[in-house]
Amino acid sequence: MASSEYQVSARMANLITSERLQSSQDVLFPVRLLTRERPPEGAHISHVSLADDGGLYYCKRDQDGAPSRMREALFSQLAREVNLPTPAFRVVEDQDTGESFFGSMRETSTVDDVQRKKFLRTERRDELGRFPEFPGRWFSQLYAFDLFIHNWDRSAANIIVLSDGPRRRLCPIDFAAAELALHPFNQFPVASCETVQVARRLRIVHGFFADSALQMLKLLQAVPIAVFESFFRAMPSDWLHTEERDILCAFWAGEGMHIRIEELQRGITDGQIL
Ligand SMILES: Nc1ncnc2c1ncn2[C@@H]1O[C@H](COP(=O)(O)OP(=O)(O)OP(=O)(O)O)[C@@H](O)[C@H]1O
Ligand SMILES: [Mg+2]
Repeated sequence: MASSEYQVSARMANLITSERLQSSQDVLFPVRLLTRERPPEGAHISHVSLADDGGLYYCKRDQDGAPSRMREALFSQLAREVNLPTPAFRVVEDQDTGESFFGSMRETSTVDDVQRKKFLRTERRDELGRFPEFPGRWFSQLYAFDLFIHNWDRSAANIIVLSDGPRRRLCPIDFAAAELALHPFNQFPVASCETVQVARRLRIVHGFFADSALQMLKLLQAVPIAVFESFFRAMPSDWLHTEERDILCAFWAGEGMHIRIEELQRGITDGQIL
């Protein structure tokens, strides 16, 4: 957490907002920003804003020519569709400049960085030395999801940990590097990237459940093209990169999808992709 200013606002937002669930209809309902504060240290997001719905949002604009907002909105909706809920998100508008941002809302129950790292690094095994189902199954599903969407940037900081009393809940954030449309459909993030490296470390600590990873592929394959297309309709038109959208929709409706799923199933089953 960078500035004390930001921490004050985070507390304010925590007071104002109760944890809220979003329905798919209002996913990208716009809110207006009231403040602009410095983002967390080292982050590439534009700013953190308190918005007029009382939420505190991490706001992202398009970066380096990439349609970051479209990817965030698209893959956040897809993640929800396959039971990997992200934090709530909105279109955050700046009425002074006319700019609109992808805003990922800070949930009131988000744990701090120290607790997040501790949770991710702590091994828990039962008396027989077996890994518990959670969080290993969740990480295995997330890994299959990230490989599928060609997200090469799943750093540990891109996994949010929420506390539900003593229990923990996990949420993926940051899909700006999901480059599914930019590579041949039978190719996956390279071994040296964050996603693969972080998944290897998590696997040592929490185990890998191939059946969960394979189940994720089934869930992805079962998302109808009409639902996939509807994700684009839920976002402002100036977020759309039409060429990337068209490539993705053609992939979803065509052979590319089957090829990618089969390649991933093979790689997960024989361990080549782990
Ligand atoms: N919904 C959220 N709840 C809590 N923290 C968040 C949320 N969204 C973003 N953050 C914080 O902001 C940081 C940067 O956000 P994000 O990863 O989306 O942007 P980025 O441009 O990729 O930045 P980076 O290069 O640091 O990953 C995250 O690592 C996290 O600490
Ligand atoms: Mg990030």
